[in-house]
Amino acid sequence: MEYHVHLVREQRTVPAKKGESLLDVLREAGLKPDAPCGGRGLCGKCLVKADGRIVKACETKVSGPVEVDTMIREEEYQILTKGSARRAAFAPALQAVRVTVPPCPAGESISDWTRLTKALEVSGGVSIPVAANLSPLLKKQEGTVWAVIFEDQILSVTGEEPALYMAAFDIGTTTVAAYLMDAKTGKEVCVSSRKNPQSQYGADVINRANYSLSHGTEEVTGCIRKTVDEMLLEMASEAGIGVEDIYLVSVAGNTCMHHLFLGIAVDSLVHAPYNPVVEESAILPAKDCGLHIHPQGQLLMLPNIAGFVGADTSACLVASDLASQKEWTLLIDIGTNGEMVLGKDGRMAACSTAAGPAFEGAGISCGMRGAAGAISHAEYKDGRWEMDVIGGQKPRGICGSGLLDVAAQLLIHKKMDSSGKFAEGDAVTLAEAEESGTGEPIRLLQKDIRELQLAKAAIAAGIHLLSEKMEISVTDISQVWIAGAFGSFLSPDSACAIGLIPPELKGRISAIGNAAGEGAKLVLRNKELWKEAQKLAGEAEFLELAASPDFQDCYVDELEFPEWE
Ligand code: FES
Repeated sequence: MEYHVHLVREQRTVPAKKGESLLDVLREAGLKPDAPCGGRGLCGKCLVKADGRIVKACETKVSGPVEVDTMIREEEYQILTKGSARRAAFAPALQAVRVTVPPCPAGESISDWTRLTKALEVSGGVSIPVAANLSPLLKKQEGTVWAVIFEDQILSVTGEEPALYMAAFDIGTTTVAAYLMDAKTGKEVCVSSRKNPQSQYGADVINRANYSLSHGTEEVTGCIRKTVDEMLLEMASEAGIGVEDIYLVSVAGNTCMHHLFLGIAVDSLVHAPYNPVVEESAILPAKDCGLHIHPQGQLLMLPNIAGFVGADTSACLVASDLASQKEWTLLIDIGTNGEMVLGKDGRMAACSTAAGPAFEGAGISCGMRGAAGAISHAEYKDGRWEMDVIGGQKPRGICGSGLLDVAAQLLIHKKMDSSGKFAEGDAVTLAEAEESGTGEPIRLLQKDIRELQLAKAAIAAGIHLLSEKMEISVTDISQVWIAGAFGSFLSPDSACAIGLIPPELKGRISAIGNAAGEGAKLVLRNKELWKEAQKLAGEAEFLELAASPDFQDCYVDELEFPEWE
């Protein structure tokens, strides 16, 4: 039986089957509702008004015609696209070469393709689409043509010099960042970023993986491929080029994003021992993943390291050149999952730790992502809170960096003890109802501090156990590089004050921005770095924290905040 669901804000009516959840109806209508828990009824973020009643969309089944106010606000995310990277020569594998193909000597029979590959000194296999018009083209051009070569393959042959572009993608769990580069000069010509549309199937990798386990990968894979394809088109039109002028695309992302982009079932990431299905780097035709770049365009997938240390970490290793550091260096990317690599002089160990969603604002009563209206920084001064709010508007909630600051200030000002207990009451008010952008007070509850403790303990325990594996003390770490959006916005002092990063490392911390995006660009700009990505991923020793006998004890110890005198 089918009913009509009227979407009030969108001013349209869509069909829905009896018993279908409103969340599914909204997804089918293409609205991308926020559903951080993947529709399991746990997060309370999918609220809609159904016939005037506020309900969870995921738990409300269609039982008749209904009017739905989606209340969906397209939040303006702070998306990090900039990052620091090592210097590397511009030496791409993708090239446009002008070549003169000699005519076939009289009395011999040498094919056009053979003479072309000899003249170009490439040995890749024959490409029928490229060979299709080769003969008339060689005749018309009297043997002198332009060839686009990638590695040993000929991707196209033209009479005129072709435009040549390449694009790098960092597919994060929350956001997608993309960069278009001129493949002849290496110059970045434009940048694009978007929210990852897979958020409608769960905010974190576990919820998203669970969704794709129960519903198949098709939907989740399709929506990210569509987004990447749209971003390519958008960047091409902004740069004033044709999307078919893009010949090469690289993709970095955590293992789950990597698998889902390729349409690989993620069962193995959800069940112990949490192995990836594929960890090797891969080159495949871009059209196989639905990308409408040049028909012979290629897709470079960076390698994964382990189930929860993915190709984004490999890309960070390429960008940061951590393996060649002469002093112990810790690279850390903090999100719902904290990935970290500790290394020196070519030896590296990596681990990942489930920090949970607190740093992304989820699971915190007034928590929100780093979007307009989020308290991003806070200081307790002269008995009141001074706060930075993203977008300069009234606060609507608090994001991860703000949460760290508030906790640090509470400890420093003795309004909370090292066990995380507030000195007075069970809530801290940051903004009263009349000062907030929601009309409700912005408060941090005792339970929110507990969530923060769980998250910070997971990261801190990872740092300690990684140091132990390398047989060093954490104080031997000379540099801490924090990658990713959260790392760029957090205050290193607050991170040390609450013990997220060992306080001994204060003063040694620097943010390296979107290093994964930088790594994805570097493997396109320098063919040796593409090879190096695989080598680095293979060389990093993986420490499985869950299997470490000390993890539980270390984690419990780290639940405490440092003592403040
Ligand atoms: S409660 Fe509905 S998506 Fe989380």
